[in-house]
Amino acid sequence: MSASSTPLTAVNGTDLLLWVAIPYTCLAVFAVGHVWRYRKDQFGWTSRTSQLLEHRWLRWGSPLFHLGAFAVIGGHVVGLAVPASWTRAVGISEHAYHTAAVALGSVAGVAMVVGLGMLCARRLLAPRIRTRTSHSDKLLFPLLSATVLLGIAATVVHNIAGGGYDYRSTVSVWFRGLFALQPQPEAITGAPLLFQLHALTACLLFAAWPFTRLVHVWSAPIGYLRRPYLVYRRTAATTTYGSHPGSAQHKPAAPKVTR
Ligand code: HEM
Repeated sequence: MSASSTPLTAVNGTDLLLWVAIPYTCLAVFAVGHVWRYRKDQFGWTSRTSQLLEHRWLRWGSPLFHLGAFAVIGGHVVGLAVPASWTRAVGISEHAYHTAAVALGSVAGVAMVVGLGMLCARRLLAPRIRTRTSHSDKLLFPLLSATVLLGIAATVVHNIAGGGYDYRSTVSVWFRGLFALQPQPEAITGAPLLFQLHALTACLLFAAWPFTRLVHVWSAPIGYLRRPYLVYRRTAATTTYGSHPGSAQHKPAAPKVTR
């Protein structure tokens, strides 16, 4: 199925709202929101790690979520930004593309879901993390979970259990149209509901992005890979207060009283 370009005036109001106005508004909030956040809150521009408060769940949940996310993002770049005609032109058949996308996408999606599940669980179950959960976290975690769960549900229902759905000729056409400034809402209106809901929650996630801890994505410490080692050495045994922590001498000196 290939989506033909329809004049926007022929598209009904609801479809214009859902597939043109909302996506562009979310993208505008994404762009302007980042500038605003950078100018107003550079010291808060971090992942606000809670590793010191809880690390057992984080040790597994965080790498699973992040590695899954990297792979899912890679899959989305190929699936949404690269037209099917380009992959065909380099000799990748539709069947080979589809099989690889579903296999790799499923592994990555499951890693992301399990990792995110662990990150959400520690936020709900560890009292010290729960009390440090901000309003922006309360928006981010449900929105992120909805987006990820709807994405994996669309894959499972239509492309693993179902007969296969060619989203590259519908959802991807709509997605590219937005960035080409030639919106094609009609390309996505016939897509299955799970794909539509996934795309809409993703738009809302983009709008929420600059106001949450997700801004840390743009400050990933990639320089760490090339930076020289930092050398940590213990200081000499004698400290201001005594020989080593725990020794009887390791006590703060009594305050000096001056009369
Ligand atoms: C408007 C933006 C987006 C569109 C149009 C979109 C579209 C899609 C499509 C078509 C699939 C099905 C792939 C398949 O069946 O092979 C999918 C799957 C998925 N999406 Fe998205 N997506 C978007 C943004 C996001 C975002 C922001 C996230 C996560 C934060 C995400 C997470 C997932 C996951 C986990 C899957 C299932 C695993 C996979 O197939 O890679 N998506 N998405």
